[in-house]
Formats: sequence, structure tokens, C-alpha cells
Amino acid sequence: MSDSWPLALLDWYAAHARVLPWRNPPGAALPADPDWPYRVWLSEVMLQQTTVEAATPYFQAFTARWPSVAALAAADDGELMQAWAGLGYYARARNLLACARAVVAQHDGRFPGEEEALRALPGIGDYTAAAVAAFGFGRDAVVIDGNVERVVTRLLALAEPLPGARAAIRAALADVLPAGQAGDFAQALMDLARRVCTPKAPRCLVCPIADACAGRRTGAPEDFPVKPAKKARPTRQGTAWWIEVDGAVLLMRRPARGLLGGMLALPSCDWRGRDATPPLAGDWQALGVVRHGFTHFELELAVQALRLPARPALDGEWVAVDAAATGLPTLFAKAVQLALALRGEAGKMAP
Ligand code: ADE
Repeated sequence: MSDSWPLALLDWYAAHARVLPWRNPPGAALPADPDWPYRVWLSEVMLQQTTVEAATPYFQAFTARWPSVAALAAADDGELMQAWAGLGYYARARNLLACARAVVAQHDGRFPGEEEALRALPGIGDYTAAAVAAFGFGRDAVVIDGNVERVVTRLLALAEPLPGARAAIRAALADVLPAGQAGDFAQALMDLARRVCTPKAPRCLVCPIADACAGRRTGAPEDFPVKPAKKARPTRQGTAWWIEVDGAVLLMRRPARGLLGGMLALPSCDWRGRDATPPLAGDWQALGVVRHGFTHFELELAVQALRLPARPALDGEWVAVDAAATGLPTLFAKAVQLALALRGEAGKMAP
């Protein structure tokens, strides 16, 4: 079985392939329509942006309005941007136009079928070039997206995390690529990934290539692709100050630049240590420490509290203590929750 898994997969695909408006049915000759590669390319650009379900109405609208690459190349920029609205990431829409115009200017309005020529067009990278070559032209290209990566890392139980495992994935697929069926093969892998070889709880019992799967034999196929070891993040320390007067607490807007810029927060130091000077002198109570992970470091934020009989002359906004956590960034919401939990304890805070 292990050598014949591509055939088992193609059999499964023949019976289970999803019907998609940009997809050739399994086993069928490619449509003679000269705009077929255009449809494939358009769908691939949209699918980089969103799911099959969300892309489908956009694909229908685009191909109705601009049925060929020449029509798209002649589109009004503003109209195209408007039609793209909702798919997000406008750079892709701009690249879409640039690519269509390059196909008209450099290739006489016909997409080239070779991956290298495709990669030379605006916005087309390795993945899209391979997809257009295979799905649009029936070339023997190896098409690898994140879903395909998941299936193959499991199938081979690849111990190396991504992106290092990519060379092995490519080599393994190139080795078994069924000649003349690269499009069906890649789309079969994609459908398998979405319906069977799902990220969590893969459905190995119904998988057509389970017998060939080394990941399954490990007993934990969901552990592939292996996650890269997390880099240890440095820990920083800081202090936040809870200043409470008559049921209200002082919040301050953070400087526009820097972490959590422009957001409302408890007054806080610059997180360079525990010895920062509080905003006013007083009998500060240490309430404890909250921890929060930022992308590049962990923060241990000590929370100190002071209850006063009258509002001090400090800039900021006084907010009812019960509403104080609402709308704060998570770090400060944690600090507020700590303060609210402890200030309820009799005698913790003077007066
Ligand atoms: N994702 C990207 N291209 C796809 C295709 N042709 N079929 C299913 N999913 C896809």
C-alpha cells in the first residue's frame, strides 16, 4: 500500500471530490475554454485570502463581470477595488490588476503554462505558479499549501518542524506524482486535508491512505506537523498603581507610541524593573503580581494600591471601580481583576 497511496487517494477523490466552480471534475480532460487558466488563477488568489465558502460568491461575481483576463486587465481600478471589498488585503487586488495587465502586455492575453514564466508575473509566488500550471494547464507541477503540508508531514511522520520540512515534503510528492494527474492529485490532498486529515482529531478511520500513514502508526497523527520549539521569551517586570477614591479608580491613556499605545490603562511604570517611583507618595499596599505574555517578552506586573479620601491632582480619567476592567487591554484587565478581588478583603486597604 505504501507505494500505491497516490492511487488510493485518487480513487477516493473520484468518489468524494467537492464540486467547485473553478475545479475540473476528477479524471476529466481540461476544458478547452481558453479562459480556464484565468479562472484557476483568480480562484487561487481569492483562496489565499479566504475560505472556499466565502470565496465562491466573489468568484461568481468576478467571472460574470470580467469573464477573461483581457476583460479584467481593462477593468476600472476603482470598480475592481469595490468588487474586492470584503475580501480584505487590497494589495492582492492591486496585484490582481497588475498581473492581468502583464498577461495582456507580455503574453498576448493568455497565461503562460510554465511555472517559471508564471512566477515572473506580479503577485504570483511558488504556490500559485504550481497551482495554475497543474489545475489550469494539466502540467506535472507539485502544488503545496498548508493543508497539503499537514497531510504529508503526517503521512511520513516528519520529525522536522516547518518550514525546514518543506524540502522533504516536496521531494516526497515529486517522487510519487501521478503523471498527467497532478491537478487531481493536489486537489485530492486538499480535500482530504479539509475533510479527513483535519488539524485536530483527524478522522483516520475513514482515511483512504491510513494504511500508508506513518503518523497514524505513532498513535498521535495530530502531533504533525511538529511545532517548532518555542524561543524562551525574556521576562520583564513592572508596576501598575491602583489609586481609588470614593468608588472610582484612576485610569490613564498610554502614550500613542509604544506597546498598547493610545489605550486606556492603570498608571504604570515603563516595565524596566520593580523599583519605579509611584505617581504619588503614600502608604501603598502590594496586592500581588499578574503575568502576561507579549510577543517578545513576558511581563510580571506588580499591582500596588492606595485608597485616598480625595482625588489627587493627577491627569487621567476616574472610572467606577466595577466598570474599570471594561475595554482595557488584557494585561490591565488582569490587574484590575486582581485589585477588585483583593480590595474586597476587609482591612486590606486603608482607610
Ligand atoms: N485551495 C486552494 N485551491 C484549492 C482548490 N483548487 N480546491 C480546493 N481548495 C483549494
